[in-house]
Amino acid sequence: MRTVLYPGSFDPVTVGHLDIIERAALLFDEVIVGVLHNPAKQSGLFPPAERVALLEEAVRPLGNVSVRQFDGLLVNAVAHCGAQAVLRGLRNATDAEEELQMARLNRHIAGAETVFMAAAPGVMHVSSDMVRQIGKGGGALQGLVPESIRPRIAEFFKNITS
Ligand code: PNS
Repeated sequence: MRTVLYPGSFDPVTVGHLDIIERAALLFDEVIVGVLHNPAKQSGLFPPAERVALLEEAVRPLGNVSVRQFDGLLVNAVAHCGAQAVLRGLRNATDAEEELQMARLNRHIAGAETVFMAAAPGVMHVSSDMVRQIGKGGGALQGLVPESIRPRIAEFFKNITS
């Protein structure tokens, strides 16, 4: 049984994340999507429980994907869920530079392996950061967040901006 842990902030989940999850679900027996805290991103916008709920709704059609929330270090989450590897998506060279450092550190401190998946060309411009900016400004989220949860995300932005 090959289990991969796909960690991230998912603040909120985007079509780019879902593309990686769907493709990983075809490659691995089990995909665990881990909602973790990124210390570089301070407090975040969507409460962690809401990030999990949105992810759960978005991955519902995928039978071998589950969503969990973890505290602390990524390598502890890897050990905790018995994953053979961490999965991260790469959009561009900026991502790659940061991700390679993180992958090497996680291997250095705990022997955790990381595998990378290239973002699909159609979603390379999408990021949670941009979704937050567009959502707060009342812009259209179509094609940026998974369609099944777009109304819930739009409602969230409506509530925080009204
Ligand atoms: O979606 P993000 O913000 O790019 O995800 C980054 C995340 C949450 C995977 C990363 O910040 C992380 O692993 N956080 C847990 C703390 C940790 O293990 N830090 C050391 C990484 S080498």
